[in-house]
Amino acid sequence: MDSAHHPDRRTSDHPTPLHPASTGALLVDLRHVIYALSDALDLVGIDDVGHGKRVGIMAAACGRTLGLSEAETTFLFDLGMLHDIGVSSTKTHGHLVAEFDWKSSQVHCEVGYALLRDFVPLAAMALPIRYHHSHWDKLRDRSDLDPAIAGQANLVFLVDRVDALSAAHYADGSLMTQRGSIRDQIKANAGSFFAPELVEAFLAASASEAFWLQLEPRGIQAIMQDMLARHEPCAASTPELKQLAEIFSLIVDAKSSFTAEHSLGVARLSRHIAERMGISPENCDKIEIAGLLHDLGKLRIPDGILDKPGKLDEHERNIINAHSFETFQILRNIKGFEEITPWAAYHHEQPDGGGYPFHIRNIDLPLEARILRVADIFQAMAQNRPYRKGLSADAILVFFEDLVAQGRIEAGIVTTLTQDMPAAMAAALPGNTLPPIQTN
Ligand SMILES: [Fe+2]
Ligand SMILES: [Fe+2]
Ligand SMILES: [Fe+2]
Repeated sequence: MDSAHHPDRRTSDHPTPLHPASTGALLVDLRHVIYALSDALDLVGIDDVGHGKRVGIMAAACGRTLGLSEAETTFLFDLGMLHDIGVSSTKTHGHLVAEFDWKSSQVHCEVGYALLRDFVPLAAMALPIRYHHSHWDKLRDRSDLDPAIAGQANLVFLVDRVDALSAAHYADGSLMTQRGSIRDQIKANAGSFFAPELVEAFLAASASEAFWLQLEPRGIQAIMQDMLARHEPCAASTPELKQLAEIFSLIVDAKSSFTAEHSLGVARLSRHIAERMGISPENCDKIEIAGLLHDLGKLRIPDGILDKPGKLDEHERNIINAHSFETFQILRNIKGFEEITPWAAYHHEQPDGGGYPFHIRNIDLPLEARILRVADIFQAMAQNRPYRKGLSADAILVFFEDLVAQGRIEAGIVTTLTQDMPAAMAAALPGNTLPPIQTN
């Protein structure tokens, strides 16, 4: 099967590089993927997209003040970036930022713990994430918890609360005048919320102006570049990448009860079609990863818009339609994802150029992206949604014939898909193979 992507016919009005020749096996650095995916988590802040990174920067700074090793401070940095991996709801994020001690905080801690505990490369973060909203006076006497883990959890809690107290002051530039009062509020909770020695370390680290100034967007960006340049390469295996992509698909799909297991179904159906179209095993792995990650950008959509039962107004529609571009923005930073990125991000492009956001025509669309688009629509139609039952195979067929006639999806892919509708349905609706996660 021809999967050449016509790089010479690329139109000049969309980003590059988008259609590289197939490179075969995946060669990706795990830290690169983790850093990029932290961007996805930070999108849940909507207009304030630096929470995880600021928490990581502050945790690492406190770690250095405590005299921790380079490896330990790097771990704290990564832990900070991923600590809210259990949050995909903008409403939950809002509570966590607006309230110093939100009563329902523990839910996202348990979700984060459940997501990471079986993923070997990041399993060491699972317990600190589980306890990152636990008060120190409850944690310190727990004989079942390693004191080092309790300390990591409590340090993340402390700097997470610093960021919550700072949130209102980033945009209007008042952070420098407010930092004294933020330091006082943390100090007032030494021994109750926070371990006294961690409060001391924070007060020492945050005594300089630089500690606060580095939390501005340009400071964050510079530190991210430094951290990426510094780290030892850590090659990720394809099964590890799939597992990590599956974790992120769970986060995205948990955002709305409308979309439970949508990404997983799209991934499996894309692979199913790709295999039947003779695509190489390596590219079948990549299309599966692209399917798992294609809706990452939805993390930026406010819950109220994603779940709105009625018709969307133009502004709301624009916000929803930006999600595949957001996916593009996140994934393009991953070296080794040069193919996966366009396959994932082009799932709303149409053969006739009438899709969005790049308006790429079929001739410039990789075959895998065209497959993913068909799988995305098929899965959405087959899936039960709170406001309607999933469509039958016959009803989907009728709808697809219509879409083909309108030039909105590709006939050849639909033919392959519909040759065996029961198999397509089974791939698109994988069932409850993974535990559902609740992010309240
Ligand atoms: Fe949190
Ligand atoms: Fe947080
Ligand atoms: Fe989708």
